[in-house]
Amino acid sequence: MSYQIVDHVYDVVVVGAGGAGLRATMGAAEKGLKTACITKVFPTRSHTVAAQGGIAASLGNMGPDHWTWHMYDTVKGSDWLGDQDAIEYLCREAPAAVYELEHYGLPFSRTDDGRIYQRAFGGMTQNMGEGPAAQRTCAAADRTGHAMLHSLYQQSLKYDADFFVEYFALDLIMVDGECRGLVALCMDDGSIHRFRSQATVLATGGYGRCYFSATSAHTCTGDGNAMVLRAGLPLQDMEFVQFHPTGIYGAGVLITEGARGEGGYLTNSEGERFMERYAPSAKDLASRDVVSRSMAMEIREGRGVGKEKDHIFLHLDHIDPKILAERLPGITETAKIFAGVDMTREPIPVTQTVHYNMGGIPTNYHGEVVTLRDGDPDAVVPGLFAVGEAACVSVHGANRLGSNSLIDLVVFGRAAGHRLNEVVKGGTAQKLLPKDSADLSLARLDKFRYAAGGTPTAAIRNEMQRTMQADCAVFRTEQTLAEGQAKIDAIYGRMGDIKTTDRSLIWNTDLVETLELDNMLSQAVVTMHCAANRKESRGAHMHEDYPNRDDANWMKHTVAWFEGWGGQGGRVGIDYRPVHQYTLTEEIEYIKPKARVY
Ligand code: FUM
Repeated sequence: MSYQIVDHVYDVVVVGAGGAGLRATMGAAEKGLKTACITKVFPTRSHTVAAQGGIAASLGNMGPDHWTWHMYDTVKGSDWLGDQDAIEYLCREAPAAVYELEHYGLPFSRTDDGRIYQRAFGGMTQNMGEGPAAQRTCAAADRTGHAMLHSLYQQSLKYDADFFVEYFALDLIMVDGECRGLVALCMDDGSIHRFRSQATVLATGGYGRCYFSATSAHTCTGDGNAMVLRAGLPLQDMEFVQFHPTGIYGAGVLITEGARGEGGYLTNSEGERFMERYAPSAKDLASRDVVSRSMAMEIREGRGVGKEKDHIFLHLDHIDPKILAERLPGITETAKIFAGVDMTREPIPVTQTVHYNMGGIPTNYHGEVVTLRDGDPDAVVPGLFAVGEAACVSVHGANRLGSNSLIDLVVFGRAAGHRLNEVVKGGTAQKLLPKDSADLSLARLDKFRYAAGGTPTAAIRNEMQRTMQADCAVFRTEQTLAEGQAKIDAIYGRMGDIKTTDRSLIWNTDLVETLELDNMLSQAVVTMHCAANRKESRGAHMHEDYPNRDDANWMKHTVAWFEGWGGQGGRVGIDYRPVHQYTLTEEIEYIKPKARVY
C-alpha cells in the first residue's frame, strides 16, 4: 500500500502514558522541551490503573524506617541481581517522589493524625533485615495505581505536551546507531505518522500477556521491548518473570498483597497456615517468589484446595468488616464478581499468576538505554530512553518486591526528565531523516495487513500463551525448558502462515492484535531461551536441576538479541554483563550477598 505520511517534529517523544510515561512527559515538558506522548489507550486506561496495594517509600509514618533499610530489602529481594547504584537511587529518592505525588493531589489513605497511611508488604523489614516487618507501602485504600494515574494525568495537562491518543507505535527510526524518532499508526483513521525527535522514551510496560494467566491488561504486550529487539538492541534478564501469589483462581484477577499486609493468610486443604513452614519469620509476607513457590509445592504435594486440588485459600474472613471496607474495598468487590465469594465470611480461592517482568530494556539510572555491543557494558544508545516496567534499570534484579514498581515508575520517570533536560537541546534544528526512514515499519505493517495464510492470530497467540504457562513457569527444569524452546521456536515460525481478517479495511483490530502478537512472540522466544541458558536458581528463576544460587558463575545480567526477524524462526543471541557491585555514594556500602531466608 502507498502511504501518505504525516510528519511531526519534537524534542522528545514518549511512548506510553502509564505512571512512568506521564512522569517523563511532565518532566520533559516542564523544562520547556517540545514533547509528545503517544499512547495506544487513553492515558487513564494505562495498566498502572490496576495497581492496588501501594507505593514503597521509607516515610516512617507507622514506625521507624530509613531509606537504607528499604535498600537492603530491595537488594535481598532481587537475590543480589539488582544493580546497587540504581537501588540506592530508587530508595533514597522514594520519599520525595511520594510527597510530590501527595502535592499533585493523590488522595492517600490517612492515619488518625493525618499522615499518609502505610501498610506492610512482602520482604519489607526494619533495620537491614534484622528487625520486624516495616510498614513502608503508602496506600490509597487498594486503588493506589488508579489514584496515582489520575493524579499524574491531571497534572500533565498543566504542561504544554501534545497527546497522541490511540496511536500504535510501529518501530523506532534508528540511523547510525542513534534513535531519531519513530513511526506510528493512528488507530482512529489508519493514517501513518512519523515522529522526528532528539530523544525517544519507551514507557510501554511489560509483556505479561505472553502468558495464559496474567494479572496484566490485554494491552500488556511489551511493544517497546519488541521495537528494541527489531532495532538490533538487546533486552536484559528476560528469564525473570514474576508470579503474584494471589491471582483469583480461574480469572487471574489480582488480589493485592496488601490483603496479607492487613493480616490475611494462606491455607492449604488441611486448613494449615503452611507459610509458617517455608518462611518462619516473614510467613505470608515473604517475598513473592518464595510465597508462589511454596503454594506450588503445597499443590504439587496434594494439599491444594478445591475439586482439582489445584489452588489455595486466602483468608480475610477473620478481619473486622469495617477495616476491610475502609482499606480493601476494591478486592471486596473483585472477590465477589470474579470468585463469587463474600470475603468477609469465606476464603478467596487464589493461585500464582504472572504479574510482572523484571527483565526489559537495559538502562542506567538516568533512564538512558545501554547496550553491551562494542565491549562497553554501560555505553548508552544516543537518543533512546526507557522507563517503568519496560525498562530493566536493574532495581528489581531477579525478583521485585511488591510496591516497588509504582515507586520505580515515578522515580525513574522523573530521573529521565532530568536527563532529557541535560542532553536535549530544545528548539535547535534537528538532523533530517533519511528518505527511507519509515520503509521498514511500513513493510512490516503491510506484511501483516495482507497476510493470507491459514492460521488466525488468536490460534497462534493461544499456543504461545499456553506454552509459556506450561514450560516457563514457577518451577523450571532442563526438560521443560528444552521442550519449551522447541515449541516456542516452532510457534514463532508459524507467523509465516498467519491470516488477518478483513484486509480491505485500512485498519482493524485484527491487524493491531497481529502486530501485538508479533511483538509478544519475539519476547516469548527470548524469555524461553534466556531461561534455558541460566543454569542456577535465583529469585523468580527456579531451576529444579540447579536448585541453588551460584554467585561464582551466575551473578551477571543476561543480555539477549533476537536475530533473523521475519524468517521462519529467529535466532536468540545471548551474552552477559556484570552486575553493578557498587553503590552511588559513600553513605552506604555495597551489600554483600548472603543466604536469602525470610
Ligand atoms: O499486590 C499488589 O498490590 C501489587 C503491587 C505491586 O505489584 O507492586
